[in-house]
Amino acid sequence: MEALPEVRVELVDIDPKMLEVAATRCARHAERFRVRHARFQGELPRCHAVVASLALHHVATLAAKRELYRAIYDTLEPGGVVVVADALTYPDADVFWRDGEIAVYGAFKGD
Ligand SMILES: C[S@@+](CC[C@H](N)C(=O)[O-])C[C@H]1O[C@@H](n2cnc3c(N)ncnc32)[C@H](O)[C@@H]1O
Repeated sequence: MEALPEVRVELVDIDPKMLEVAATRCARHAERFRVRHARFQGELPRCHAVVASLALHHVATLAAKRELYRAIYDTLEPGGVVVVADALTYPDADVFWRDGEIAVYGAFKGD
């Protein structure tokens, strides 16, 4: 949020305590974020970017992951991006950044 002063952020998590921590960390940008106590699998806001940090490994099955990625794709504006930071065991995956089994990966939605 420091680096991108024009962005507005919605923080989504099922755990209210995690949202409290996130809100405290973002407090100095109070007018630019809101928290949403919800499951990732619920309704997603229309947006230009979805960023998930150490969270999507909780989506347990391949079918559920596919469904969630489809929902993310559908909610992104054209040209939008999804960025995921998480454990990734595939050694040859195409990633933005990697350190051992932790990687940052994602994709752009075409225009
Ligand atoms: C390891 S923590 C990471 C939290 C935060 N994203 C970060 O990077 O510090 C994983 C988080 O995913 C949340 N979570 C797991 N499954 C979820 C789901 N289906 N919907 C919403 N949140 C979920 C948990 O409540 C937890 O706060």
